[in-house]
Amino acid sequence: MSKLARPLLLLPAAALSVGTAPRSHELDSTYGFGEYLQHFDKSYPDAAEYRRREERFSQNMEKILNHNKGRLSDTGAILDGGYVMGVNHLTDQYLDELPFGYDKTYHSSWSGQLMRGASKIERRLGESTTTSYSQPPDLEMKEVSSLPELVDWSAQGHVNPTIPQQGACGSCWTFALTATVESHLSIATDEPPMSLSEQSVLQCTPNPDHCGGTGGCKGATVEIGLNYIADLTAKKEGGMYNLSDVPYSPSTTLSCEDSTEGSTASVGVTGWTQLPTNDYKSVMNALVQKGPVAIAAAASDWALYEKGVFSSDDATVNHAILLVGYGIDEDTGEKYYKIRNSWGPHFGEDGYIRVLRTDEDSTVCNMDNDPLVGLACALDDSGNQIDVQPVEVCGASGVLFDVSYPVGVHKIDVADQS
Ligand SMILES: *[C@@H]1O[C@H](CO)[C@@H](O)[C@H](O)[C@H]1NC(C)=O
Repeated sequence: MSKLARPLLLLPAAALSVGTAPRSHELDSTYGFGEYLQHFDKSYPDAAEYRRREERFSQNMEKILNHNKGRLSDTGAILDGGYVMGVNHLTDQYLDELPFGYDKTYHSSWSGQLMRGASKIERRLGESTTTSYSQPPDLEMKEVSSLPELVDWSAQGHVNPTIPQQGACGSCWTFALTATVESHLSIATDEPPMSLSEQSVLQCTPNPDHCGGTGGCKGATVEIGLNYIADLTAKKEGGMYNLSDVPYSPSTTLSCEDSTEGSTASVGVTGWTQLPTNDYKSVMNALVQKGPVAIAAAASDWALYEKGVFSSDDATVNHAILLVGYGIDEDTGEKYYKIRNSWGPHFGEDGYIRVLRTDEDSTVCNMDNDPLVGLACALDDSGNQIDVQPVEVCGASGVLFDVSYPVGVHKIDVADQS
């Protein structure tokens, strides 16, 4: 064979041999780390790193196969409800590497406790507080039994069909924020969603120096970001930018000013609403009357999810995502919340996860007792540890704990910018 012909012959053959990763019903213990790396286009040249990854992969494979035992038909149907696990790009990641980024210490349930008896913290929060653009919910509160059985804003074409990938950055809060703004604009204008930029939210939202948190890739909340966008909008100093103008680039070292330099803001908001915590009825009415909402969740166990209706008692809230609707599974009759994640299209059900819902969810609660130890600001003025009490979070994965959405989303008239 001539030297020239070789690559031409090899390339298509190599591409074919890689194939696609097996689905849950095709997985067995013969699926090895080498194949996995090919399927997900990963490589670990460092031998120690390779071993570390292989070990994690093996742990997770064991977990997946144990969980799936007896749950799947030969063709991949889920037999008795619940969910099945599978492999994806996260199967060789350790828990502390998974992409989250919800900083619950900003939520009043936690920040209220931290401020008790600690003027230092109060001062820090005080400094960061600009005008609040928070508005109380204006929902017509209907009984859940009188609401439609199914609400799915993604099926209505009001959710951006491109599933984002936050990468190795705790920027979930900017993705949940951007997705709610895209959806609420789409609903208000009855146009397909525009693609807006997470980057300016990530880089420009002032970081309240709270509990050592720094915002950005270290995490924050949707409400903090929306308040910043509302402030810019009110002052005619900006808003959200088009994604094509300000691309997502979490590792960038550009300053906020440089990243938006020469771009014009395209979308503004006049405020934001946070629903009462752990209130099922409010969430359901907001989904029907307003559109998708940003939520927080305890997502440590989500990475292995492939399909079905997920449930977990995990209550350590650490992630922010977009809740696009709710429904009832046709095969199993299980009620679910439909949630759009920011872990790319290969996560779960085409980028989505369905989480178990019950009509008693306001009382289906667990304690988030992540004690905030090690955080410098959990000390009072005398340097003693503040005794932080666990916080109750309701709904599977705590999905009812922190729910918010933007108000008055509109396109910005370019001529109107100062
Ligand atoms: C942003 O994108 C929209 C839709 O594609 C377009 O109409 C608008 O002019 C863009 N805005 C700016 C400021 O570039």
